[in-house]
Amino acid sequence: MFKMQLRTVLLTVTFAAMCIAQTSSLEALKAGAESAGAEFHGNPDVIKLPPPDTTGGLPLMRALKLRMSSRNFSAKPLSLQIVSDLLWAAFGVNRADGRRTAPSAMNWQETDIYLVTADGLFEYVPPSHSLLRMSNKDLRVYTGTQDFVKDAPLSLVYVADISRAKGATEDDRMLWVGADCGFIAQNVYLYAASAGLACVVRGSIEKRRLANVMQLRPNQKIILAQTVGYHK
Ligand SMILES: Cc1cc2nc3c(=O)[nH]c(=O)nc-3n(C[C@H](O)[C@H](O)[C@H](O)COP(=O)(O)O)c2cc1C
Repeated sequence: MFKMQLRTVLLTVTFAAMCIAQTSSLEALKAGAESAGAEFHGNPDVIKLPPPDTTGGLPLMRALKLRMSSRNFSAKPLSLQIVSDLLWAAFGVNRADGRRTAPSAMNWQETDIYLVTADGLFEYVPPSHSLLRMSNKDLRVYTGTQDFVKDAPLSLVYVADISRAKGATEDDRMLWVGADCGFIAQNVYLYAASAGLACVVRGSIEKRRLANVMQLRPNQKIILAQTVGYHK
């Protein structure tokens, strides 16, 4: 009898522990998402990216030699592995203390990267190296004024949450926010050069319209966009 009771208690404890483990991994993802400025509207899909390949790529000097803007994109989608490598290179976590592959003024980490693809709108969550689906709609046509944006497989939209940019003068604040975004964009250019991808950073955006379709909050400012894909 005592043995039966002990078995029931053990089974109950094991099941409870499994539930807690699952809940806490979801909570951890959510915590990462919230610290990156994402909001959970209902229950957006969470896509865990494969680990980035941080060992490959061209030597830096060769990537610099190849870095250029290209505007002829094939419509072929990028693999999840390439997206993973690209985002990690852009602004992924590269140290145990949560700091990133690009510097940021006062370590604000105010730039969030949104991915606009044929499959929808996603936000990159660096702490969990995952994507949050924010919309199922294809918003590519809204990401810029140039024709290629509607067919290229991926445009990154760099959005600064200026509520995180505290402690600088008004003059310095937007300058530094722009500089922070520039470092990320250059990381993406270098990754693209190394991976043989076409890439162009873009300021020609109808920002109000894009912010509207992306449903951004008032403190979120679109800084630049950057289109990446295979060369046509
Ligand atoms: C802040 C910024 C905004 C830019 N905006 C656009 C743009 O809207 N559309 C575009 O085709 N290229 C844009 N470019 C890319 C430049 O035109 C390009 O970098 C420049 O012609 C030099 O060419 P390269 O990048 O091949 O060296 C932008 C570049 C920067 C740095």
